[in-house]
Formats: sequence, structure tokens, C-alpha cells
Amino acid sequence: MVRDKTIVLGITGSIAAYKAVELASKLTQDGARVDVVMTGSAQEFVFPLTFRSVTQRPVVTEMFDLASEFSIEHVSLAEQADLVVIAPATANIIAKLAAGIADDILCCTVLATKAPVIVAPAMNVNMYENQVTQENIARLKERGFNFVGPAYGRLASGAWGVGRLAEIDEIMGTIHQVLGRGGDLAGRRLVVSAGGTQEPIDPARHIGNRSSGKMGYALAEAARDRGAEVVLVSAPTALVPPIGVEVVQVQTTLQMRDAIVKATTQANALIMAAAPADYRPRATAETKIKKGTESLTLELVETPDILSELKGDFIRVGFAAESENLVENAREKLKRKKLDLIVANDITATDSGFGADTNRVVLIDRSGNVASLPLLPKSEVAHRILDKVVELLPRRKARK
Ligand code: CTP
Repeated sequence: MVRDKTIVLGITGSIAAYKAVELASKLTQDGARVDVVMTGSAQEFVFPLTFRSVTQRPVVTEMFDLASEFSIEHVSLAEQADLVVIAPATANIIAKLAAGIADDILCCTVLATKAPVIVAPAMNVNMYENQVTQENIARLKERGFNFVGPAYGRLASGAWGVGRLAEIDEIMGTIHQVLGRGGDLAGRRLVVSAGGTQEPIDPARHIGNRSSGKMGYALAEAARDRGAEVVLVSAPTALVPPIGVEVVQVQTTLQMRDAIVKATTQANALIMAAAPADYRPRATAETKIKKGTESLTLELVETPDILSELKGDFIRVGFAAESENLVENAREKLKRKKLDLIVANDITATDSGFGADTNRVVLIDRSGNVASLPLLPKSEVAHRILDKVVELLPRRKARK
């Protein structure tokens, strides 16, 4: 997503400036051209050389630097930028931007750019909560600036409160989301389900399955990066909720069904990557079942098949987790569940399926087209699935 993009990273004078080194490094590793612009006070906290070393690019510290490769610094930076990120942003830079003051290279660049701007504030809690700062932030938001954070936590002063720079992963997520606007899924609403549902036996135990949720989360992030409005209906997982995605947490198949029915009322597509339990205990014991009997019989009843039950005009993508006769079983499911596309994966392979970061899948559509993909990272598999969804979507109207 950030590959080959030019990102101007503005650093202002906050102790959190050191964290921006990691941000610059991550963006560079992901293939972005990162042009760092530092205000005078930012240079009191971190040396420009640090950013220069990490980005392998010149760092801009002055408005008119005759030795620089940029002609008139702020104008050429502003024109080349696909995105401007100010992290950390002090109360001072926020005030200057809100007032349209252009007395340093960073303010000038922001004023001169047509690229989207992300602001990640970092400051003392009282400064952040001050009415003036809040008004300035509101004014910038009205003008289309994107904000991420600040977070609650321990501040430089030793006090606790809201004012910490957002986590780098959160800033990265926001960057992906903002750059993704205008992608081939812009204006589309996608619902993705993920993870294995849990059916409670008693207050301490449940019936679960081995789904890690990784494929569904990768799909939600990939759809976000292509501009979609994404609802992720997630069974319990160990994964971090993606930024810029509406996450609805559920536990059981029945809860997942209800959440999906609600989320799909206005959806363009549903991708069911979740592994909902097919059976649940007929009754959940109110207190913990004690041991002492030699055997214990649990009576299970069938849960609803969410995909088969759903009504509505949207693209339906299902998964087929198979341990034998992959394509044959997947085709049967495609038909039985009236799907537009089915993603078949062999769960017996260790490099694909449950818990793995890679997957090897076969995509089968309604017209009988079969595409066997090689072993790929789940993020790449997600994009291949979305390519098919994009192909299928023109048949349906965009929501907006
Ligand atoms: N699915 C669903 N509701 C369920 C069970 C599964 O909507 N109660 C969805 C899954 O999310 C997946 C597809 O149906 O997209 C196929 O799931 P899978 O477990 O492979 O198939 P089942 O229909 O459960 O059939 P079986 O377990 O017998 O293979």
C-alpha cells in the first residue's frame, strides 16, 4: 500500500520524536520514499542524521537550503507528497496549522500540499484538553485533516492522561486507510467474518475450533486498504483489531449470525472467513461442571448455517475448509450455499490453513472458473480474493 508512495513525515518538538524514527523506518522498509521535515525544536530531541540514516533520504530542516536536492523546499515537497504525516504533532504546530500561520518549513509544506494530512498529536494532558487546542483540532478536522490518537498513558511529565503519541502500528493503520481512499473498493461496504466461534458448556469451558482468524483479519485490512468501508465480525482471536475497520466482537454462532444479519443490511459483499461452530451444547450449565463421574455426555444441537440463511442482494464469498476432495467438496458448498465465490483450502497442510501466516487456496466461482493460487502470505491471498470480488461487484450498484 505504501510502496512507491512519497510520504512527507513532519517531526515537531516533542519527546515522542524518537518514536517517529521507528515510523520512518517501517515506512521505508515497506517501500515508501520518506521525506522527513524537522522543525527547529524537533532537532533538539533527535538529530536529523538519525532520520537520514533510516530513510536514506535527505532530511529537510530549513526553508531555503541551497545544498538540498529540492528546489524550493516546501513547494517541491508539497507537490511530490502522496501523504503528509505529522508525528508527533505538538499543540504549537496544531495551533499554527489551524490559524494558517506559515513561519516554518513544515507549516509551509502543509499549506502548499493537496495531499491528505494525518496529524498524530503528542502533548501534556492539560494542553491537549485545553479548549483552545480542542477548538484547533475541531477546526482542522472540519477542513479534512485526519487525526490519530493521542492515547491515554504515562506522559513525559510523569502524569497519567490523554496525550501520548498513538502507537506506531495505529499510525501505520491510519496511513494505510487514508492512502486507500479512492481504491477500487471505495464506496463499497464489505462485511468480513473471522475466527472460530466458541459455544459455552459452562462458565469455564467452551467448544471451539482451531481457526486463528488470520485470514479474515487479513481480508478486512486489505479491503480497508482498497477504500472499502469494512465491518469485521470477529469471534474471539488473539489478533489486534485493525485500525479503520468497524469490529464487532461475538462469541457464539448465534451471536455471529445476528451481527452479520445486521451488518449486511447495506452491504455490497460478505466474505465468510470465520469458522462458526456447526453444533452447540443444547444447554449451558449455570455453574461449573464438577468432575467425579466416570463419563459425561454432552448433547449437541445444530447451529444455523449463516451463509445459507442470509437474505439480501450482495456478493457472497464462502470458504471451504476441507481435509479431503478439496475442489469437489468446495463446488458442492458453492452450490448448496448459493455463493458467488468459494475459497477452498486444505486444512491438513501445515503451511496453509489454521494458524499459518501463509495459505494455498483454490478460488472457484459460479461460472465454474477454477484458479489454484500458489502458497502466498495471507495478506496476498486476501488481495487475490478481493480482485475477484471487484470483478463480481459491477453487477451490483455502489451504495454511495
Ligand atoms: N458457515 C456458516 N455457518 C455455519 C458454518 C459454516 O456460514 N454454521 C460458512 C463458513 O464461514 C464458510 C462456509 O460456510 O464460509 C463453509 O464452512 P465449512 O466449515 O467449510 O462447511 P460446513 O458448511 O460447516 O460443512 P462441513 O463442516 O460439513 O464441511
